[in-house]
Amino acid sequence: MLQLFRPLVLGLDWPELERWCAEHLKTNQLVVWQRRPGQPPQMLYPDQVPEPVWVQEMGQKFRVDAYHRGQDPQLFLDWRCGRRYLRHHCQGARVLNLFSYTCASGIAAEAGGAVQVVNVDFSRSALDRGLLNAEANECRRQEFVCDEVFPVIWQMAGRKLPARAHKRPTTRRFSKRVFDLVVLDPPALAKGFFGAVDVKNDYQSLFKPCLQLLAPRGRIVACNNLAQVSEGEFRGQLERCAVKAGRPMERIRRLFPEQDFPALDADPPLKVLVCEFA
Ligand SMILES: C[S@@+](CC[C@H](N)C(=O)[O-])C[C@H]1O[C@@H](n2cnc3c(N)ncnc32)[C@H](O)[C@@H]1O
Repeated sequence: MLQLFRPLVLGLDWPELERWCAEHLKTNQLVVWQRRPGQPPQMLYPDQVPEPVWVQEMGQKFRVDAYHRGQDPQLFLDWRCGRRYLRHHCQGARVLNLFSYTCASGIAAEAGGAVQVVNVDFSRSALDRGLLNAEANECRRQEFVCDEVFPVIWQMAGRKLPARAHKRPTTRRFSKRVFDLVVLDPPALAKGFFGAVDVKNDYQSLFKPCLQLLAPRGRIVACNNLAQVSEGEFRGQLERCAVKAGRPMERIRRLFPEQDFPALDADPPLKVLVCEFA
């Protein structure tokens, strides 16, 4: 699957590219589409919409529509480094998967030995796909919460909801909960009833409640996808927030996207920081 972000300046011989893929990548399907901000995605090759496929990764199955109306691929390939981490570091863990999308991280966590996984996303269709993925992988430990992240983590951290919650009758109530590992993978910018997600200017409003619901020796796998925010800046934001909240980090390390997702320089836009606490 190729996704282009700018119009092609060269005319490409798609059937020739398809032959190359068949020979070198051993795949019999090539799908090429273009994403342009604010416009529906446009299919460039082939002419007919391809059938959805089940893809395999690290022994797990995920349903992917190689072309669909949304803007995102249903399995983020750069984030495989995060799924691999979860596959190896979740033994016995209670995991909170925030902005879970199609729940690939939650499923990787269960395969890695997690005892509970709570997936949170406000998109019903993303969670429905997550449910299908979870069933295909015979998962037994997944919960799916269709809601905005803010009210969920505030309540799970033991905070009261703000007064405006009463203006929204659909606001669900959650008890205080504790997690050993939080996956925090927000979009760059998103508006919601309870506030905006803004990973450039206000990552803290997400990170701080996560610190408050974290068990002793817990970990937060925090991501920032925005190219304008450097690793140093992101690290600084998280470290300052942790100190202010009275839970300084013991260790922080970065995960890099894998070899099949190369960046043009040594600093790929996706920054994944694994933060470990006492
Ligand atoms: C970048 S994707 C997350 C990718 C995902 N972590 C994965 O492993 O594939 C962003 C997701 O955040 C969800 N989202 C955006 N703002 C939200 C909010 N305020 N509350 C809940 N979900 C939100 C979107 O519906 C989308 O599924």
